[in-house]
Amino acid sequence: MPVASPPRIAVLPSAVADQIAAGEVVERPASVVKELIENALDADATSIELAIEEGGRQLIRVSDDGCGMPRDDAVLSLERHATSKIRTAHDLVGVRSFGFRGEALAAICSVSHLELETAPDDGVGTIVRAAGGVVLEVGEAARRRGTTVKVSRLFYNAPARLKFLRGARSEWRAILDVVGAMALTRRDVRVALTHDGKAVLTLPAAPRLRDRLAAVYGTAFAGRLLDVDDVSGTTHVAGLLERPADVGTATRRVFVSVNQRAVRDQGLVRAAEAAYRSTIPSGVRPTMFLEIVVAADSVDVNVHPAKAEVRFRDRWQIERAVETAVRRALGTFDAGATFGRPAWLPPGLAPAPAATPPVVDLDALASPTSPTEDGLFEAEEADDASSDVPPLTQLHRTYMMFEHDQGVVLIDQHSAHERVLYEQFLRTLEGGEQPSQRLLFPMTLHLGPAEADAFEQHRELFEQLGFEIEGFGGHTLLVRAVPMPHPRFDAERCLRETLATLTGDRESGAHARHERLAATVACKAAIKAGDLLAPGEMRALFVALRDTTLPAHDVHGRATIVHLTWDEIERRFGRR
Ligand SMILES: Nc1ncnc2c1ncn2[C@@H]1O[C@H](COP(=O)(O)OP(=O)(O)OP(=O)(O)O)[C@@H](O)[C@H]1O
Ligand SMILES: [Mg+2]
Repeated sequence: MPVASPPRIAVLPSAVADQIAAGEVVERPASVVKELIENALDADATSIELAIEEGGRQLIRVSDDGCGMPRDDAVLSLERHATSKIRTAHDLVGVRSFGFRGEALAAICSVSHLELETAPDDGVGTIVRAAGGVVLEVGEAARRRGTTVKVSRLFYNAPARLKFLRGARSEWRAILDVVGAMALTRRDVRVALTHDGKAVLTLPAAPRLRDRLAAVYGTAFAGRLLDVDDVSGTTHVAGLLERPADVGTATRRVFVSVNQRAVRDQGLVRAAEAAYRSTIPSGVRPTMFLEIVVAADSVDVNVHPAKAEVRFRDRWQIERAVETAVRRALGTFDAGATFGRPAWLPPGLAPAPAATPPVVDLDALASPTSPTEDGLFEAEEADDASSDVPPLTQLHRTYMMFEHDQGVVLIDQHSAHERVLYEQFLRTLEGGEQPSQRLLFPMTLHLGPAEADAFEQHRELFEQLGFEIEGFGGHTLLVRAVPMPHPRFDAERCLRETLATLTGDRESGAHARHERLAATVACKAAIKAGDLLAPGEMRALFVALRDTTLPAHDVHGRATIVHLTWDEIERRFGRR
């Protein structure tokens, strides 16, 4: 008779099940810190104090001045699926609290020694001691309104997890990240953090992101960032960005929040990065602090065990909004390189009305004008359009300079013109009109085989740009008409150099090819360093540059505009 094999499936005791579930929520000390902070925020705390020992392996203590809990709730809060935040599945849609699963305290408690002290009002409160998910003791504790959760000996009963913990230093760094992200998202809350008894962060409530960043990373760092603030439809994108000229010079920091929840979202980061295209060299990545606010029902926060990711109903729309917002921020004169302390000052140092004037308010100098239709250097007569242009001086036959109330601005004439032509050519390639000029005597060009090949590859695009070219047998071209970006345009040289650069270019996407050709021709066609500019030419260039989408950056990712603040100049002269 076959022996019945013993049953192989058994329902796990709940303590074991809790430990397994805990693995999802509580990966490392930083996850405990995150959950406890979120609970404090959900309790409407205005002040959160954290004490960490040995990277959280020994002790994590989080105290808040929030609503606290009455005795029964305090005991219940350690049970799985005990939550005060939602009642039905329906409440999950558009949930505004951080917590909603009723998992966190139970999960933490199942793998540690936990002490919960809480009081809904100043006076007598409750203390609950538990270990490994079992409540050991419930008593009275005199304390102020609020809650303190003390977690010690994390993973003492989960050796497999303990083994995967990193050293105290790296666990501490992960905790710092979590606390930093929280401090940036919830600036209305005071935060104090100590590690092994030493005060690490003491952050008073600071409504402005820049002020919080200054408190966390220093005023120099915060002062250099560029404001972004833009609304597309129902999406609001605000925050601070690294100026393209600074990208790659310091540690990269990325922070993104959605509806006041810090999230990891590569899609949003990539959208912001895409907006930097053509302002920074490829391969370097910008620092960004972005706060995105969308309609509560257009985002699902219940898709990740640690709530670090969210799902959007219409992701494309939100990524577009981010890209547009960043692009607009980079498209200001303000986005140029700045030397010296910018206009922004931390609170306390700033004079009474602490408004943030832009570093250079060109709009105040210049009323908006429609894009100049005329060629760059013909605008000389059209003086009414440029009467709002500050007096410009040419320096070293290379830079245009002007002063304003906050300092001196230098504009690189070649880079600036390159930016102007690049955008103009790109518009032409994407369907616009390019006036071209017939040559009295057609120009003959003899090309090498690779250049001839490059020409064949791009023939149509050249024609769109305003070149009229015929093959003339072999590798000889007959050029009958050329675009006329400015009177000093050397068409032959431009064509030769462009073809030499395009040799071997087989880039596939139409837009990428357009960008590359526009950039190459713009670079070759632009006025050079060393060209003497007449005052009218400088004004025309200034006006044309102001009308581009990214005036402060050339097409290779270099700055076209440099600000030198009076502050910096005075410092150099020892005046302060
Ligand atoms: N610091 C606190 N102050 C006041 N009440 C708290 C605090 N921490 C926890 N609670 C109460 O205990 C309950 C359980 O907390 P827990 O973190 O386990 O679950 P949750 O926050 O509801 O959901 P989640 O598992 O998603 O975090 C909460 O719903 C809340 O009512
Ligand atoms: Mg919670």
